[in-house]
Amino acid sequence: MEGAVQNDIPGIDADCGGGMACATCHVYVKEDWFNKLPKKEDGEDDMLDMAFEPKTNSRLSCQIIVSDEIDGLEVNIPSKQA
Ligand code: FES
Repeated sequence: MEGAVQNDIPGIDADCGGGMACATCHVYVKEDWFNKLPKKEDGEDDMLDMAFEPKTNSRLSCQIIVSDEIDGLEVNIPSKQA
């Protein structure tokens, strides 16, 4: 989320600044990558339920910590956010 906001990537508004309280950072993680990410913290699924068209590969991008292990991560933005 921080990378998207700092680089003016459209579709990631991050209205709550990463507080897991808005779901405007919702992304779909490419299937190959989904299980490579750290597990969701308590509350992320609840917030994703409020997101636009959540899917099994949905994540809040504010909860994805960038590291070398996920170099090359691919995500898509829900059409309503684009
Ligand atoms: S920035 Fe609000 S939930 Fe991620």
